[in-house]
Amino acid sequence: MQHLVDTNNFSDAQIAQLLADAKSFKAHRPPHLLHNKLLITLFFEASTRTRSSFEVAAKRLGAAVVHLDPSRSSAKKGESLEDTFANLCAMEPDGVIVRHAKNETPQILANMQTTSVINAGAGNYAHPTQALLDLFTLVEHFNGDIQNKTIAIVGDIVSSRVASSGIRLLTRMGMNVILVAPKQFMPKSDLPQYENLADILEEVDVIMSLRAQLERHETEIFEDYDDYKKQYCITKERMQDRNIILLHPGPVMRNIDISDEMLTDPRCKVLTQVKNGVFMRMAILKLLLLDS
Ligand code: CP
Repeated sequence: MQHLVDTNNFSDAQIAQLLADAKSFKAHRPPHLLHNKLLITLFFEASTRTRSSFEVAAKRLGAAVVHLDPSRSSAKKGESLEDTFANLCAMEPDGVIVRHAKNETPQILANMQTTSVINAGAGNYAHPTQALLDLFTLVEHFNGDIQNKTIAIVGDIVSSRVASSGIRLLTRMGMNVILVAPKQFMPKSDLPQYENLADILEEVDVIMSLRAQLERHETEIFEDYDDYKKQYCITKERMQDRNIILLHPGPVMRNIDISDEMLTDPRCKVLTQVKNGVFMRMAILKLLLLDS
């Protein structure tokens, strides 16, 4: 039984297979490869993209999907996470897709070895399917040649599971990753670190902008985001006509993370990421439920 807690669960050969399958699913709608499979989604935190993308991916492959909304489940009566999961597993799903505020949750559930566990975002530790769909988007844009391309991750890096998984995967794939943030948002890291966006614009191929993860801040970090956006908002004025593509995992805080104008610029790949997310998640479900 294979799980996806983070991308290090996948070998290089499996990642190459995921990229090939996602590309093929994007080119031609596949047959219902998972027509006899059942998935359960268990999201303890809010989601627009990841949950619906998994459901679309599963249904495009013919799988059935059941959602359990923890805010209306017996978790409200005190049932533990492990008991909730064990009860869902007693219904014999082929996989459970879980999002949780705690970093360890997907690994704890995977260790129970009752069904394939797919991490849909855990704390600030890992969001592997986002990292894989970002990789797919970059490979597609650069026609497979991402080695030694430079990506700047900009914003609230320390709180971001997207950044954590992205840093691990993109460095593994041979990209140069640099970090740009005010010191309050900068993690401990061996990667190159900058406070000023202006210092990196001439050397990057990609900017990944991140939202301030207010829900993960134990105390208020900035009273308001006026000064922050003056320094870190990705605007046309900043980008000028540079050949840099712009990613963001969403949700975008408009005119704080990225300006309205840049969101409609062809260099902005935010909705391409969402579109590609379905194909990458189809590839991930195929790998975990059919090929493993
Ligand atoms: N990128 C991402 O995880 O978005 P959601 O929180 O909407 O799922």
